[in-house]
Amino acid sequence: MTLTTSSNGAAAPGRGSRIANCLGAITCLAGALAVASVSGQPAFAAESDGAAIAANGTDAGAPACASCHGEHGEGQPEGPFPRLAGINAHYLVQQLQDFASGKRASDLMGPIAMALSDSQMNAVATYYAKQSPPKAAEPDPIDEAAITAGETLAERGDWTRGLPGCAQCHGPGGVGVGSSFPKLAGQSMEYITGQLKAWQDKQRANDPLGLMANVAFKLSDKDVTAVASYYASLPAAETTTSGENGGK
Ligand code: HEC
Ligand code: HEC
Repeated sequence: MTLTTSSNGAAAPGRGSRIANCLGAITCLAGALAVASVSGQPAFAAESDGAAIAANGTDAGAPACASCHGEHGEGQPEGPFPRLAGINAHYLVQQLQDFASGKRASDLMGPIAMALSDSQMNAVATYYAKQSPPKAAEPDPIDEAAITAGETLAERGDWTRGLPGCAQCHGPGGVGVGSSFPKLAGQSMEYITGQLKAWQDKQRANDPLGLMANVAFKLSDKDVTAVASYYASLPAAETTTSGENGGK
């Protein structure tokens, strides 16, 4: 046996036996993908690699999340694309499951979420929960009077209308509380406005116990603009949230 054939021969049985050993096991897929990328085939995102899914998408057809949600999950305030960075990982996974099941209707996110496995959802959510890019710039300057009105409503509510402050659930300054009450600080005007309208129009009805729907129904258009202006005016990365540790 020459040196050349022996080195070729060593690689082939190694690959074959690895696949034979894990026949029928789900881990085979990850193993096979790892082998494929080692041998110079196009590299697909490994199940555990949230960063790769975010940047490149998946072999099952999910597009790169970064193309809509920004390179580090900062979002795109000039469109309906939310910030994902620094948001609790469990909350993000729940939303992906709701998109996949249709409980949260979205023509864009539905098919994308359906293309993700549970472990891919976990990996990509964990990745985004740990990112902390600065807030992406709003396309237009935010009205100062609306910010002031929004801050009052957000922090104190309006008890004459039975409206609790957003802070009661989302935390002071919208930093987010646990895995149920997402961070709002630094989310965009357009996204916050769109979600509040989605609850009002019953397009989004996936919140536990209708907690958020009950609030949204009480908001006037002026209130919506005010609270959206307030949260969009806050820096995102500087605030702390339970999401930044990966959403334990
Ligand atoms: C084609 C653009 C596009 C791509 C690509 C995309 N998204 Fe989205 N995503 C959206 C839009 C639009 C929304 C807001 C949907 C709505 O209005 O409810 C959204 C919302 C979300 C939300 C809900 C956030 C929240 O705060 O509730 C999550 C989580 C999410 N996307 C994750 C992902 C992941 C993970 C990927 C990559 C596998 C991805 N998205 C790829 C457009 C996209
Ligand atoms: C009684 C508790 C409660 C109060 C008060 C409350 N929310 Fe919420 N909010 C929730 C819950 C729960 C969710 C998550 C829903 C889900 O799981 O899909 C949510 C989600 C949201 C979201 C979606 C965030 C995202 O990333 O998609 C926005 C925007 C929002 N709330 C804005 C507000 C505003 C503005 C106020 C004050 C006017 C407010 N909320 C008051 C419970 C509350």
